[in-house]
Amino acid sequence: MFEKLEMAPPDAILGLAAAFNEDPNPDKINLGVGVYMDAHGRTPGLACVQAAEKRLLDAAPVEGYLPIDGAPEYGALVQELVFGAEHPIIAEKCAATSHTPGGTGALRVAADFVKTQFPGAKMWMSDPTWANHGNIFAAAGVETAEYPYYDASAHGLAFEAMAEALKKIPAGDVVLLHGCCHNPSGVDPTNEQWQRLSDICTEAGWLPFFDLAYQGLGTGIEEDAAGVRTFAVPGRDMLVASSFSKNFGLYCQRVGALTVVGAAAEAAKAAQSQIKKCIRANYSNPPAHGGRLVVTVLTDPELRTIWQEDVKGIRDRINAMRELFVETLKAKGVTQDFSFIKDQRGMFSFSGLTKDQVNLLQDNHSIYIVNSGRINVAGMTEDNMDRLCAALAEVL
Ligand code: LMR
Repeated sequence: MFEKLEMAPPDAILGLAAAFNEDPNPDKINLGVGVYMDAHGRTPGLACVQAAEKRLLDAAPVEGYLPIDGAPEYGALVQELVFGAEHPIIAEKCAATSHTPGGTGALRVAADFVKTQFPGAKMWMSDPTWANHGNIFAAAGVETAEYPYYDASAHGLAFEAMAEALKKIPAGDVVLLHGCCHNPSGVDPTNEQWQRLSDICTEAGWLPFFDLAYQGLGTGIEEDAAGVRTFAVPGRDMLVASSFSKNFGLYCQRVGALTVVGAAAEAAKAAQSQIKKCIRANYSNPPAHGGRLVVTVLTDPELRTIWQEDVKGIRDRINAMRELFVETLKAKGVTQDFSFIKDQRGMFSFSGLTKDQVNLLQDNHSIYIVNSGRINVAGMTEDNMDRLCAALAEVL
Protein backbone atom coordinates (compact mmCIF):
# COMPACT_ATOMS: atom_id res chain seq x y z
CA MET A 1 0.00 0.00 0.00
CA PHE A 2 2.82 2.40 0.71
CA GLU A 3 4.80 1.89 -2.51
CA LYS A 4 3.00 4.63 -4.41
CA LEU A 5 3.12 7.24 -1.68
CA GLU A 6 4.76 10.55 -2.48
CA MET A 7 7.22 12.24 -0.16
CA ALA A 8 5.64 15.06 1.83
CA PRO A 9 7.59 18.33 1.68
CA PRO A 10 9.68 19.10 4.76
CA ASP A 11 8.01 21.28 7.40
CA ALA A 12 8.67 24.99 6.81
CA ILE A 13 10.13 25.43 10.31
CA LEU A 14 11.04 22.05 11.82
CA GLY A 15 12.34 20.84 8.41
CA LEU A 16 14.73 23.79 8.46
CA ALA A 17 15.85 22.86 11.98
CA ALA A 18 16.67 19.35 10.69
CA ALA A 19 18.67 20.82 7.78
CA PHE A 20 20.57 23.04 10.22
CA ASN A 21 21.45 20.05 12.41
CA GLU A 22 22.89 18.23 9.39
CA ASP A 23 25.05 21.16 8.26
CA PRO A 24 28.71 20.35 9.15
CA ASN A 25 29.81 24.04 9.04
CA PRO A 26 31.05 24.86 12.60
CA ASP A 27 30.11 28.54 12.08
CA LYS A 28 26.50 27.86 11.06
CA ILE A 29 23.86 30.22 12.48
CA ASN A 30 20.31 29.18 13.28
CA LEU A 31 17.74 31.99 12.97
CA GLY A 32 15.00 29.55 11.97
CA VAL A 33 13.03 27.59 14.55
CA GLY A 34 11.66 29.59 17.48
CA VAL A 35 13.87 28.27 20.24
CA TYR A 36 15.66 30.62 22.64
CA MET A 37 19.44 30.56 22.64
CA ASP A 38 21.65 32.20 25.24
CA ALA A 39 24.71 34.40 24.67
CA HIS A 40 26.72 31.22 23.89
CA GLY A 41 24.20 29.98 21.32
CA ARG A 42 22.93 27.23 23.64
CA THR A 43 19.43 26.45 24.89
CA PRO A 44 19.96 25.87 28.59
CA GLY A 45 17.17 24.77 30.89
CA LEU A 46 15.93 27.60 33.11
CA ALA A 47 17.45 27.63 36.62
CA CYS A 48 13.98 27.55 38.21
CA VAL A 49 13.01 24.48 36.17
CA GLN A 50 16.23 22.68 37.10
CA ALA A 51 15.48 23.35 40.79
CA ALA A 52 11.92 22.08 40.29
CA GLU A 53 13.28 18.91 38.60
CA LYS A 54 15.39 18.19 41.69
CA ARG A 55 12.38 18.60 43.99
CA LEU A 56 10.24 16.32 41.83
CA LEU A 57 12.87 13.59 42.03
CA ASP A 58 12.15 13.40 45.76
CA ALA A 59 8.39 13.85 45.45
CA ALA A 60 5.88 11.01 45.22
CA PRO A 61 5.37 9.92 41.59
CA VAL A 62 2.04 10.48 39.84
CA GLU A 63 -0.03 7.34 40.21
CA GLY A 64 -2.24 6.24 37.37
CA TYR A 65 -3.51 8.65 34.72
CA LEU A 66 -4.13 12.35 35.12
CA PRO A 67 -7.74 13.46 34.54
CA ILE A 68 -8.59 14.03 30.84
CA ASP A 69 -8.07 17.78 31.28
CA GLY A 70 -5.05 17.46 33.57
CA ALA A 71 -4.44 18.36 37.21
CA PRO A 72 -6.91 21.02 38.53
CA GLU A 73 -4.03 22.85 40.24
CA TYR A 74 -2.29 23.30 36.88
CA GLY A 75 -5.46 24.67 35.28
CA ALA A 76 -5.94 27.17 38.10
CA LEU A 77 -2.37 28.46 37.72
CA VAL A 78 -2.76 28.84 33.97
CA GLN A 79 -5.92 30.91 34.48
CA GLU A 80 -4.10 33.14 36.96
CA LEU A 81 -1.29 33.77 34.47
CA VAL A 82 -3.67 34.46 31.62
CA PHE A 83 -6.31 36.62 33.32
CA GLY A 84 -4.62 37.79 36.54
CA ALA A 85 -5.47 36.22 39.92
CA GLU A 86 -8.26 38.64 40.79
CA HIS A 87 -10.22 38.36 37.55
CA PRO A 88 -14.00 37.87 37.92
CA ILE A 89 -13.87 35.15 35.23
CA ILE A 90 -11.92 33.04 37.73
CA ALA A 91 -14.02 33.96 40.78
CA GLU A 92 -17.24 33.17 38.90
CA LYS A 93 -15.85 29.90 37.48
CA CYS A 94 -16.51 31.00 33.93
CA ALA A 95 -13.24 29.46 32.68
CA ALA A 96 -12.16 25.84 32.39
CA THR A 97 -8.63 24.80 31.47
CA SER A 98 -7.22 21.64 29.95
CA HIS A 99 -3.55 20.74 30.15
CA THR A 100 -2.54 19.97 26.57
CA PRO A 101 0.65 18.66 24.94
CA GLY A 102 2.14 22.07 24.08
CA GLY A 103 0.46 25.06 22.50
CA THR A 104 0.08 23.06 19.31
CA GLY A 105 -1.94 20.47 21.22
CA ALA A 106 -4.16 23.25 22.56
CA LEU A 107 -4.73 24.63 19.06
CA ARG A 108 -5.60 21.19 17.72
CA VAL A 109 -8.02 20.41 20.54
CA ALA A 110 -9.66 23.81 20.01
CA ALA A 111 -9.90 23.08 16.29
CA ASP A 112 -11.59 19.73 16.99
CA PHE A 113 -13.95 21.46 19.43
CA VAL A 114 -14.90 24.10 16.85
CA LYS A 115 -15.34 21.49 14.11
CA THR A 116 -17.55 19.21 16.20
CA GLN A 117 -19.68 21.88 17.92
CA PHE A 118 -19.79 24.62 15.26
CA PRO A 119 -19.22 22.74 11.99
CA GLY A 120 -19.96 25.76 9.78
CA ALA A 121 -17.59 28.13 11.60
CA LYS A 122 -14.69 29.59 9.66
CA MET A 123 -11.33 30.22 11.38
CA TRP A 124 -9.92 33.66 10.52
CA MET A 125 -6.14 33.93 10.78
CA SER A 126 -3.86 36.97 10.49
CA ASP A 127 -1.99 37.45 7.22
CA PRO A 128 0.73 36.32 7.84
CA THR A 129 0.54 33.85 10.68
CA TRP A 130 2.55 30.97 12.19
CA ALA A 131 3.24 28.49 9.38
CA ASN A 132 1.62 25.64 11.35
CA HIS A 133 -1.74 27.31 12.09
CA GLY A 134 -3.12 26.46 8.66
CA ASN A 135 -1.94 22.83 8.93
CA ILE A 136 -3.64 22.37 12.30
CA PHE A 137 -7.01 23.72 11.21
CA ALA A 138 -6.89 21.86 7.90
CA ALA A 139 -6.14 18.61 9.76
CA ALA A 140 -9.25 19.17 11.89
CA GLY A 141 -11.32 20.00 8.81
CA VAL A 142 -11.92 23.62 9.84
CA GLU A 143 -12.22 26.05 6.96
CA THR A 144 -9.80 28.99 7.20
CA ALA A 145 -9.66 32.56 5.88
CA GLU A 146 -7.32 35.50 6.43
CA TYR A 147 -7.62 39.06 7.68
CA PRO A 148 -4.98 41.73 6.92
CA TYR A 149 -2.37 42.20 9.64
CA TYR A 150 1.11 43.19 8.55
CA ASP A 151 1.95 46.24 6.48
CA ALA A 152 5.19 45.24 4.76
CA SER A 153 6.03 48.73 3.50
CA ALA A 154 5.61 50.34 6.95
CA HIS A 155 7.00 47.26 8.78
CA GLY A 156 4.10 47.66 11.18
CA LEU A 157 0.52 46.74 11.91
CA ALA A 158 -2.04 47.33 9.15
CA PHE A 159 -4.46 48.28 11.89
CA GLU A 160 -7.18 50.08 9.95
CA ALA A 161 -7.35 47.33 7.31
CA MET A 162 -7.43 44.73 10.08
CA ALA A 163 -10.20 46.53 11.95
CA GLU A 164 -12.30 46.94 8.80
CA ALA A 165 -11.95 43.25 7.97
CA LEU A 166 -12.82 42.14 11.51
CA LYS A 167 -16.00 44.28 11.44
CA LYS A 168 -17.23 42.19 8.51
CA ILE A 169 -16.61 38.77 10.03
CA PRO A 170 -19.97 37.26 10.94
CA ALA A 171 -21.13 36.06 14.35
CA GLY A 172 -20.46 32.34 14.63
CA ASP A 173 -17.01 32.51 13.01
CA VAL A 174 -13.79 32.35 15.02
CA VAL A 175 -10.98 34.94 14.93
CA LEU A 176 -7.51 33.75 15.89
CA LEU A 177 -5.44 36.52 17.52
CA HIS A 178 -1.82 36.32 18.68
CA GLY A 179 -1.86 37.41 22.33
CA CYS A 180 1.62 38.95 22.10
CA CYS A 181 4.89 38.72 20.14
CA HIS A 182 3.08 38.04 16.87
CA ASN A 183 4.64 35.11 15.04
CA PRO A 184 6.10 35.76 12.46
CA SER A 185 6.13 39.57 12.43
CA GLY A 186 6.95 40.66 16.01
CA VAL A 187 4.29 43.39 15.61
CA ASP A 188 1.44 43.62 18.16
CA PRO A 189 -1.55 45.95 18.61
CA THR A 190 -1.17 48.67 21.25
CA ASN A 191 -3.42 48.55 24.33
CA GLU A 192 -5.73 51.15 22.72
CA GLN A 193 -5.89 49.05 19.57
CA TRP A 194 -6.75 45.94 21.61
CA GLN A 195 -9.63 47.89 23.10
CA ARG A 196 -10.90 48.85 19.65
CA LEU A 197 -10.64 45.23 18.50
CA SER A 198 -12.57 44.10 21.55
CA ASP A 199 -15.31 46.66 20.78
CA ILE A 200 -15.46 45.36 17.21
CA CYS A 201 -15.80 41.83 18.58
CA THR A 202 -18.76 42.93 20.73
CA GLU A 203 -20.45 44.50 17.69
CA ALA A 204 -19.75 41.69 15.26
CA GLY A 205 -20.23 38.76 17.63
CA TRP A 206 -17.42 36.47 16.43
CA LEU A 207 -15.60 34.19 18.86
CA PRO A 208 -12.12 35.42 19.88
CA PHE A 209 -9.45 32.73 20.08
CA PHE A 210 -6.09 33.82 21.52
CA ASP A 211 -2.84 32.02 20.80
CA LEU A 212 -0.62 33.03 23.74
CA ALA A 213 2.68 31.26 23.12
CA TYR A 214 5.16 33.96 24.16
CA GLN A 215 3.78 35.46 27.39
CA GLY A 216 6.66 37.33 29.07
CA LEU A 217 8.93 37.56 26.03
CA GLY A 218 7.51 40.86 24.79
CA THR A 219 7.18 43.51 27.50
CA GLY A 220 6.50 41.52 30.68
CA ILE A 221 4.50 38.56 31.99
CA GLU A 222 1.55 40.74 33.03
CA GLU A 223 1.88 43.30 30.23
CA ASP A 224 1.86 40.61 27.52
CA ALA A 225 -1.56 39.44 28.67
CA ALA A 226 -3.09 42.88 27.98
CA GLY A 227 -4.82 41.79 24.77
CA VAL A 228 -6.43 38.70 26.30
CA ARG A 229 -7.42 40.64 29.42
CA THR A 230 -8.97 43.43 27.36
CA PHE A 231 -11.12 40.85 25.59
CA ALA A 232 -11.97 38.99 28.82
CA VAL A 233 -15.11 40.94 29.64
CA PRO A 234 -17.93 39.29 31.57
CA GLY A 235 -20.48 37.63 29.36
CA ARG A 236 -18.16 36.87 26.46
CA ASP A 237 -17.18 33.42 25.19
CA MET A 238 -13.55 32.94 24.25
CA LEU A 239 -10.75 30.43 23.81
CA VAL A 240 -7.10 30.79 24.86
CA ALA A 241 -4.24 28.47 23.84
CA SER A 242 -1.19 28.86 26.11
CA SER A 243 2.28 27.44 25.68
CA PHE A 244 5.09 27.08 28.22
CA SER A 245 7.67 26.02 25.65
CA LYS A 246 9.33 29.41 25.43
CA ASN A 247 8.69 31.12 28.77
CA PHE A 248 9.66 28.01 30.79
CA GLY A 249 12.13 26.61 28.23
CA LEU A 250 10.05 23.41 28.31
CA TYR A 251 10.18 22.80 24.56
CA CYS A 252 10.48 19.04 24.59
CA GLN A 253 8.19 18.42 27.56
CA ARG A 254 5.20 19.69 25.53
CA VAL A 255 3.41 21.79 28.15
CA GLY A 256 0.46 23.89 27.09
CA ALA A 257 -3.14 24.59 27.94
CA LEU A 258 -6.50 25.30 26.36
CA THR A 259 -8.78 27.58 28.36
CA VAL A 260 -12.41 27.97 27.41
CA VAL A 261 -14.37 30.91 28.80
CA GLY A 262 -18.16 30.91 28.86
CA ALA A 263 -20.56 33.77 29.45
CA ALA A 264 -21.63 31.87 32.59
CA ALA A 265 -20.22 28.98 34.62
CA GLU A 266 -22.75 26.49 33.17
CA ALA A 267 -21.74 27.34 29.60
CA ALA A 268 -18.06 26.91 30.46
CA LYS A 269 -18.81 23.53 32.03
CA ALA A 270 -20.70 22.32 28.96
CA ALA A 271 -17.96 23.56 26.62
CA GLN A 272 -15.33 21.86 28.77
CA SER A 273 -17.24 18.57 28.64
CA GLN A 274 -17.11 18.72 24.83
CA ILE A 275 -13.42 19.64 24.88
CA LYS A 276 -12.75 16.64 27.12
CA LYS A 277 -14.47 14.42 24.52
CA CYS A 278 -12.08 15.80 21.87
CA ILE A 279 -9.07 15.14 24.12
CA ARG A 280 -10.16 11.61 25.01
CA ALA A 281 -10.43 10.72 21.32
CA ASN A 282 -7.08 12.33 20.57
CA TYR A 283 -4.45 11.60 23.25
CA SER A 284 -6.66 10.53 26.16
CA ASN A 285 -5.03 12.61 28.89
CA PRO A 286 -1.92 14.78 29.17
CA PRO A 287 1.61 13.70 30.17
CA ALA A 288 2.25 14.67 33.80
CA HIS A 289 5.85 15.72 34.17
CA GLY A 290 6.05 19.09 32.41
CA GLY A 291 2.85 20.29 34.07
CA ARG A 292 4.23 19.30 37.48
CA LEU A 293 7.35 21.37 36.79
CA VAL A 294 5.23 24.44 36.01
CA VAL A 295 3.13 23.91 39.13
CA THR A 296 6.25 23.47 41.28
CA VAL A 297 7.76 26.72 40.00
CA LEU A 298 4.61 28.81 40.19
CA THR A 299 3.55 27.69 43.66
CA ASP A 300 6.93 28.23 45.33
CA PRO A 301 7.52 31.97 45.95
CA GLU A 302 11.29 31.60 45.67
CA LEU A 303 11.18 29.62 42.41
CA ARG A 304 8.51 31.92 41.02
CA THR A 305 10.76 34.93 41.59
CA ILE A 306 13.65 33.15 39.87
CA TRP A 307 11.31 32.34 36.97
CA GLN A 308 10.31 35.99 36.59
CA GLU A 309 14.00 36.92 36.52
CA ASP A 310 14.75 34.15 34.01
CA VAL A 311 12.01 35.41 31.69
CA LYS A 312 13.27 38.97 32.05
CA GLY A 313 16.77 37.77 31.20
CA ILE A 314 15.47 36.15 27.99
CA ARG A 315 13.54 39.28 27.05
CA ASP A 316 16.44 41.63 27.77
CA ARG A 317 18.91 39.53 25.79
CA ILE A 318 16.62 39.42 22.76
CA ASN A 319 16.09 43.18 22.90
CA ALA A 320 19.84 43.78 23.22
CA MET A 321 20.37 41.64 20.11
CA ARG A 322 17.78 43.71 18.21
CA GLU A 323 19.81 46.86 18.97
CA LEU A 324 23.15 45.26 18.16
CA PHE A 325 21.83 43.80 14.89
CA VAL A 326 20.67 47.19 13.63
CA GLU A 327 23.94 48.86 14.71
CA THR A 328 26.16 46.17 13.19
CA LEU A 329 24.32 46.26 9.86
CA LYS A 330 24.96 50.01 9.73
CA ALA A 331 28.61 49.47 10.59
CA LYS A 332 28.84 47.02 7.68
CA GLY A 333 27.69 49.75 5.34
CA VAL A 334 24.11 48.50 4.82
CA THR A 335 22.09 51.57 3.86
CA GLN A 336 18.66 49.86 3.87
CA ASP A 337 16.77 50.92 7.00
CA PHE A 338 16.41 48.06 9.46
CA SER A 339 15.58 50.21 12.50
CA PHE A 340 12.07 48.68 12.63
CA ILE A 341 13.67 45.50 14.05
CA LYS A 342 14.23 47.43 17.30
CA ASP A 343 10.49 48.18 17.62
CA GLN A 344 9.32 44.60 17.11
CA ARG A 345 8.83 42.34 20.12
CA GLY A 346 9.34 38.71 21.06
CA MET A 347 11.52 36.16 19.35
CA PHE A 348 10.71 37.04 15.78
CA SER A 349 11.03 39.79 13.24
CA PHE A 350 10.00 39.98 9.66
CA SER A 351 13.28 40.97 8.02
CA GLY A 352 11.87 41.68 4.57
CA LEU A 353 14.49 39.33 3.06
CA THR A 354 13.32 37.67 -0.15
CA LYS A 355 13.27 33.89 -0.71
CA ASP A 356 16.31 34.24 -2.99
CA GLN A 357 18.25 36.11 -0.34
CA VAL A 358 17.24 33.53 2.28
CA ASN A 359 18.46 30.73 -0.03
CA LEU A 360 21.77 32.49 -0.68
CA LEU A 361 22.33 32.92 3.06
CA GLN A 362 21.71 29.22 3.62
CA ASP A 363 23.70 27.93 0.63
CA ASN A 364 26.70 30.26 0.86
CA HIS A 365 26.88 31.13 4.55
CA SER A 366 25.10 28.34 6.50
CA ILE A 367 22.70 30.94 7.92
CA TYR A 368 19.24 29.43 8.37
CA ILE A 369 16.14 31.65 8.08
CA VAL A 370 12.51 30.63 7.40
CA ASN A 371 11.76 31.35 3.74
CA SER A 372 9.11 33.95 4.61
CA GLY A 373 12.04 36.09 5.82
CA ARG A 374 11.14 35.55 9.50
CA ILE A 375 14.23 35.68 11.69
CA ASN A 376 14.57 34.33 15.19
CA VAL A 377 16.38 37.18 16.92
CA ALA A 378 17.12 34.84 19.85
CA GLY A 379 19.55 32.95 17.58
CA MET A 380 21.83 36.03 17.40
CA THR A 381 24.79 36.34 19.76
CA GLU A 382 27.58 38.86 20.19
CA ASP A 383 29.87 36.21 18.72
CA ASN A 384 27.92 35.49 15.53
CA MET A 385 26.67 39.04 14.88
CA ASP A 386 29.63 40.18 12.83
CA ARG A 387 29.54 37.17 10.53
CA LEU A 388 25.74 37.38 10.23
CA CYS A 389 25.71 41.06 9.28
CA ALA A 390 28.65 40.69 6.87
CA ALA A 391 26.74 37.91 5.08
CA LEU A 392 23.57 40.00 4.98
CA ALA A 393 25.49 42.96 3.56
CA GLU A 394 26.67 40.63 0.80
CA VAL A 395 23.21 39.37 -0.22
CA LEU A 396 21.23 42.60 0.15
C1 LMR B 1 8.30 28.49 15.68
O1 LMR B 1 7.40 29.19 15.21
O2 LMR B 1 9.43 28.44 15.18
C2 LMR B 1 8.06 27.71 16.93
O3 LMR B 1 6.78 27.94 17.40
C3 LMR B 1 8.39 26.26 16.79
C4 LMR B 1 7.40 25.54 15.92
O4 LMR B 1 6.88 24.52 16.39
O5 LMR B 1 7.18 25.93 14.77
